[in-house]
Amino acid sequence: MKAITVEPMKPESARYEDFPEPDESEGSILVEAVACGVCGTDVDIVSGNYGWAPPGKSRLVLGHESLGRVIDPGPRSSLKKGDLVVGIVRRPDPVPCPNCAVGEWDMCTNGQYTERGIKEIHGFMSERWRIEPEYAIKVDSSLGILGVLLEPMTVITKALEQVFRAGQRAFWEPKTALVTGAGPIGLLAALRLRANNLDVHVLDRNKTGPKPDLVHAMGATYHTGRALDLDFDPDIIIECTGVGSVIGDSIQKVGSGGIICLTGVGSGGVESRAVGDIAKAAVLKNNLIVGSVNANKRHWYRAGQNLAASDRAWLSRMITRREKPENFQQALVRQPGDVKVIIQFSEV
Ligand code: BGC
Repeated sequence: MKAITVEPMKPESARYEDFPEPDESEGSILVEAVACGVCGTDVDIVSGNYGWAPPGKSRLVLGHESLGRVIDPGPRSSLKKGDLVVGIVRRPDPVPCPNCAVGEWDMCTNGQYTERGIKEIHGFMSERWRIEPEYAIKVDSSLGILGVLLEPMTVITKALEQVFRAGQRAFWEPKTALVTGAGPIGLLAALRLRANNLDVHVLDRNKTGPKPDLVHAMGATYHTGRALDLDFDPDIIIECTGVGSVIGDSIQKVGSGGIICLTGVGSGGVESRAVGDIAKAAVLKNNLIVGSVNANKRHWYRAGQNLAASDRAWLSRMITRREKPENFQQALVRQPGDVKVIIQFSEV
């Protein structure tokens, strides 16, 4: 079969190439790939900045935002041939740490977790892949290709859970939310915050393209420029850019008792504002900054419900480009107007 593979930490090593069929040790369910979403993490891996091959191997099959069709459900699953499934990304560490021991692999404390398509386990950008029944999530068949948005939805489901749980540290009635960055994660965050009846604002640097319309269509307000120039102090900020200056502005701008959730993975850089000044603003306003990564089964289950309940026409506008696997390089290069780019392996 064919797969999109990469030698992690080596730029320009990605290839669409012949690759052995998935081994039965990778799971008893055999799946035919339908599509795989592309995100910043994939770009980071292909650029040689992130990612780990399986132990003893030099190449990693890329892809963690999966959607596939069951070819063979195997002996141990309740799935049927033809069902649409998405694979959970992370596996618990083998020690295990206390969080992995209770199924909270997203909160792994010793860093020995593994992740499909990212860290030491092959991903889903291959014509066929295998998965263990306990890590296969059945998708509402009426979602069709939109099921490829499930993985990013899990990331947001966890992030918002963290925010609302953390908010219980004091009396808290959030009314306004700001999302920084109108990429797929930011837009899904805004969609879910709207579903929670908040007054939602989205800030992005793009003045044109599909993003402003997508934001207006969900009943939220679109802004460009700096968070510091907004005429309100948000109760919640979901930071989805990973850009230091945007994070600094967010910490300064959030309202008293407000919560900032960092979801973007940036790459450092020189910051203009001293960390001490930024921290002072957080202390004096009792702000909480919470980092959030990945998702566990609780979030996957909830995200499946949330995705199925979302406006399908709106969701389909988020998928702005589909590329063939042999053109995967094009999928990894950002083009004007891109929101979610997917690599499509077969018709849904
Ligand atoms: C994925 C997460 C993963 C994180 C860090 C993200 O792109 O969506 O599942 O935990 O990268 O590797």
